[in-house]
Amino acid sequence: MRIAVAGSIATDHLFTFEGRFADSLLAEQLSNVSLSFLASDLKVRRGGTGANIAFGMGVLGHSPLLVGAVGKDSAEYLTWLQEHGVDTTHVRVSDTLASARFTCTTDQDHAQIATFFPGAMVEAAEIDIAGVGEVDLVVVAPDDPGAMLRHSASCRERGVPFAADPSQQLAFMDGDAIRGLVEGATYLFTNDYEAKLVHEKTGWSADDVLDVVGTRITTHGADGISIFQKGQPVIEVAPAPAREVVEPTGVGDAFRAGFLCAIGWGLSLERSAQVGALVATHVVETIGTQEYTFTADGFLDRFAEVYGEDARAELAPHLTL
Ligand SMILES: Nc1ncnc2c1ncn2[C@@H]1O[C@H](COP(=O)(O)OP(=O)(O)OP(=O)(O)O)[C@@H](O)[C@H]1O
Ligand SMILES: [Mg+2]
Repeated sequence: MRIAVAGSIATDHLFTFEGRFADSLLAEQLSNVSLSFLASDLKVRRGGTGANIAFGMGVLGHSPLLVGAVGKDSAEYLTWLQEHGVDTTHVRVSDTLASARFTCTTDQDHAQIATFFPGAMVEAAEIDIAGVGEVDLVVVAPDDPGAMLRHSASCRERGVPFAADPSQQLAFMDGDAIRGLVEGATYLFTNDYEAKLVHEKTGWSADDVLDVVGTRITTHGADGISIFQKGQPVIEVAPAPAREVVEPTGVGDAFRAGFLCAIGWGLSLERSAQVGALVATHVVETIGTQEYTFTADGFLDRFAEVYGEDARAELAPHLTL
């Protein structure tokens, strides 16, 4: 199964400031703020939802086609993704703009001053997803909103199955945009909170959603996953317990990566969600969204521990890392 993942490709630059912003922000001087903080630490994290999902799929042995836009400053990042199995042929490299970047400084009170620069990401709207050639599924993950709408519309018009994964972009979209993004999707991914946002903003009931999408997958953090299909009983899937909760950022993307790989292998919805859950657990246990590693044997052992020997037997032939 050939899967294209369209979504953002970005880096996070996370600074630590040992002092307190509040000590430097003088109420009477707010109209001419000019401040600089001496950072004691900088962590550069690879991220972006498209890149996170594609990375996870690559690690599991798929070769996803990543579709998105970056600047020329992302050469090293693209090499990293290629080394982890991602096909970056269809990543557009901007001639003029730098890559999307999130910069955040955190002080000792955990107060934060952050800036997000979308940069080259805006050029994602110029990408014609039909240009990636024949694919069996397109994942429309958070990206430039114009790009997301364009990809969904293109898939719908051409009869190409797509997965709607609007995630955090739902907060900035109105009902019309959400309907345009979701209608006709083979899969709709959201977490609990986002599921409610879809209902509120579109006016759709849960039943209405199942009239316009094939399968709805709703994640509940450490409480697992529910899978809905019209006229079918709900499938509830348990999470894979984390040995240690280190940093959950990126769990949603990792879940999608595992789920989609398993669907690509022809596994059932329930099994696929279990694979997604175990990949997500690896993210919970590491700092960063693309830092987890595993071996086929290690993954399978843990899969059997949580979901049983039958589950291992079904997954084993596909997980050939
Ligand atoms: N603390 C946890 N322990 C084990 N598994 C977890 C934990 N948190 C999340 N997961 C797994 O990851 C899946 C997705 O989590 P969640 O519903 O929090 O996604 P999300 O809200 O989209 O996350 P984010 O947007 O921060 O990446 C869950 O269904 C579960 O399987
Ligand atoms: Mg999410």
